[in-house]
Amino acid sequence: MSFPKNFLWGGAVAANQCEGAWDVDGKGPSTSDMCTNGSHTTPKRVTAKIEPDTLYPSHEAIDFYHHYEEDIALFAEMGFKCFRTSINWTRIFPTGMETDPNEKGLEFYDKVFDCCKKYGIEPLVTISHYEMPYALVEKCNGWEGREIIGYFETYCKTIFERYKDKVKYWLTFNEINTGTRPFGAVASTGTIKGFSGPVTEAPNDMQARYQALHHQFVASARVVKYAHERYPQFKLGNMICLVSSYPCTCSPDDMLEAQRQMRDMNWYCSDVQVKGEYPYYAKPFWKRNNIEIKMEPGDLEELKQGTVDFYTFSYYMSNCVGVSSDSATVEGNIIQGLQNPYLKTSEWGWQIDPKGLRWTLNEIYDRYRIPIMIVENGLGARDERSEDGRFHDDYRIDYLRQHIEQMKLAVEEDGVDLIGYTPWGCIDLVSLSTGEMAKRYGLIHVNKFDDGTGDLSRERKDSFYWYKKVIATNGEDLS
Ligand code: BG6
Repeated sequence: MSFPKNFLWGGAVAANQCEGAWDVDGKGPSTSDMCTNGSHTTPKRVTAKIEPDTLYPSHEAIDFYHHYEEDIALFAEMGFKCFRTSINWTRIFPTGMETDPNEKGLEFYDKVFDCCKKYGIEPLVTISHYEMPYALVEKCNGWEGREIIGYFETYCKTIFERYKDKVKYWLTFNEINTGTRPFGAVASTGTIKGFSGPVTEAPNDMQARYQALHHQFVASARVVKYAHERYPQFKLGNMICLVSSYPCTCSPDDMLEAQRQMRDMNWYCSDVQVKGEYPYYAKPFWKRNNIEIKMEPGDLEELKQGTVDFYTFSYYMSNCVGVSSDSATVEGNIIQGLQNPYLKTSEWGWQIDPKGLRWTLNEIYDRYRIPIMIVENGLGARDERSEDGRFHDDYRIDYLRQHIEQMKLAVEEDGVDLIGYTPWGCIDLVSLSTGEMAKRYGLIHVNKFDDGTGDLSRERKDSFYWYKKVIATNGEDLS
């Protein structure tokens, strides 16, 4: 046994982090367009109005909007079977509230998907990846206002019908569980009406975020059910930012803490989207945190009827938790944790844990028993051009190799039903957490820098050639 023959090898990006062209061809401003750049030490800011003379990285990003043909040709050269991207809601409905879609926006994604088809690449489309119409933040505090469900439904129906012959795999919300964390207010739930300031100071309103999450669950279930009835060829998935928590020690208190963290961060959302109901630990959790979820009659029934077909997640790192530990804290993807003495961290403080991927895959499969896809994984690192003029990113190759080895073991030794792997930022793009270009994930280098300069030219890194070989041998040759 090895990876299945039709394994979906590929790469992943998100519209707001790569497309640029933020106000071109009728596109409206999204939440991510209101975010300035930042750095590892200085948080990016959200501004309620666009400020003159301020750098907003999403406005140009890597200009995938005008480079998509060149970029997809490079993905094809690597042998991609699958390309994960997202649709920018505000290209289709600039304020989210129009009744008729923006034809120019629809045409752009027609061209992207047609280009994928030309190379036999299967698109995997995230419907909402960390952007939403900023007008909806102003109108209804993002996902806190129930009316947004209807706007989202119109958006989904429009893109389902338009791309029904071009796209088979869909994910409703990127890393939906980010809504459980304060950072999610900016990135995911849009519960930041009237707020301007560093993202680290965004309103930390659990009531608003968990209400918003309820609306996202209902919206997701509703469109999944709709798609299942109308487009039986579609496969719809969820998407979780999965950060596994290990107990710092074998103290029963740490064990319980790790279990709690796994539920709060990782399982709460996927239990709803996969099992079709809130988990039994939800009500006590709401009570403890003074959260009151307003539901309408029929909501719970809808959740039951719109469960997903496959489970997807991002995996970059793992975490440690402990109740009375004096371990140092470390940074991480959306969530911070305690230092694990057995692991090294990336320059941005994320704890690198390939074996944790095998553990995590088994935990997910054990819990849900539906096909799984890893739709993000990778190393954010600073790439320097070598004296020979090339990018020798052997550290990135090592990272990816070690993770693929563990995926292989999960499939071969453990029997996990893993159907695909799309490493993050297969081409350099804007970092979500910091807004930097310097934190690069790509197998393809883009000549674009933190100060906004760069001619946007693309170059193959060593990892490009390495990944090409991995795909060509279906993961057999990882050397
Ligand atoms: C995931 C997001 O959390 O991690 C991506 O879905 C993001 O949008 C990726 O870019 C890597 O995070 P960062 O902060 O290094 O860009």
